[in-house]
Amino acid sequence: MNDPLVYLNGAMTPLSAAHISVLDRGFIFGDGIYEVIPVYQRRMFRASQHLARLFRSLEAIGIPNPHSKEEWLQHIQQVMDAHEADDQMVYLQVTRGVARRAHAFPKEVTPTVFIMTNPIVLPTPDAREHGVACVSMEDRRWLHCEIKSISLLGNVLAAQNAAEHQVTESIQFRDDFLSEASASNVWIVKDGVLMGPPKDHLILEGIRYALIEELCAQLHIPFEMRRISRAEVYAADEIMLSSATKEILAVVKLDEQTIGNGLPGPIYQQLYAAYQLAKAA
Ligand SMILES: Cc1ncc(COP(=O)(O)O)c(C=O)c1O
Repeated sequence: MNDPLVYLNGAMTPLSAAHISVLDRGFIFGDGIYEVIPVYQRRMFRASQHLARLFRSLEAIGIPNPHSKEEWLQHIQQVMDAHEADDQMVYLQVTRGVARRAHAFPKEVTPTVFIMTNPIVLPTPDAREHGVACVSMEDRRWLHCEIKSISLLGNVLAAQNAAEHQVTESIQFRDDFLSEASASNVWIVKDGVLMGPPKDHLILEGIRYALIEELCAQLHIPFEMRRISRAEVYAADEIMLSSATKEILAVVKLDEQTIGNGLPGPIYQQLYAAYQLAKAA
């Protein structure tokens, strides 16, 4: 599908014809937020949680929510229905809108709402079977990482760092404690316990965060949320990434350090299988 229909400010339009003003505050200031929702067999996975996070992000930056939950679901459905793929990733973005350039919020402004979808690109069978490599880097982003902001320069630079090292992600540390990767949450396993960093302003709380907690409870895997030092990450038995498009993915090498025995570990295997069941439920 070369020119899919997208939703822009109340109308469905071909992507090639979807235009916004150069004065849009998303373009000028990165003043907006976004969401990415996975779709399997034409059904959104965890839609309510994604919309709840969208609403939290809007509230955090003082953009009035332009739609009710039902309206959002209808608009997203329209975009999904217009696409030929059964498995998709819906991208939606809201900016503060178009106004004369001045930093503080304009008085009268209408948010810009954009929704598109693409076929979902999941990890390859090779990445599933063998796991992936990552590099570490210092987390130099701002201190509101809990907001799913479109101001993604820090994440872009982290992703570029990974690309230059020909690995999947940069795993970031702030003051030698684990935060998150360029575009995913990071988990470690030690002695059978799955651990993730606290859900605070230093990371984006992925929609998979709560899901992984639920799956651990189902599978009787002990789950701990706490600060994790750099040394603990290198010494982990397993490392995993989670995101809408990676689902759950095993990391088998970090910098020059082989993790565990260099293969996706048993806790990963269990969580990945449970994730596939949850998707299909
Ligand atoms: C910085 C960052 N952290 C975490 C995540 C994981 O969030 P989710 O599980 O909702 O995809 C993402 C997803 O894109 C992300 O960009």
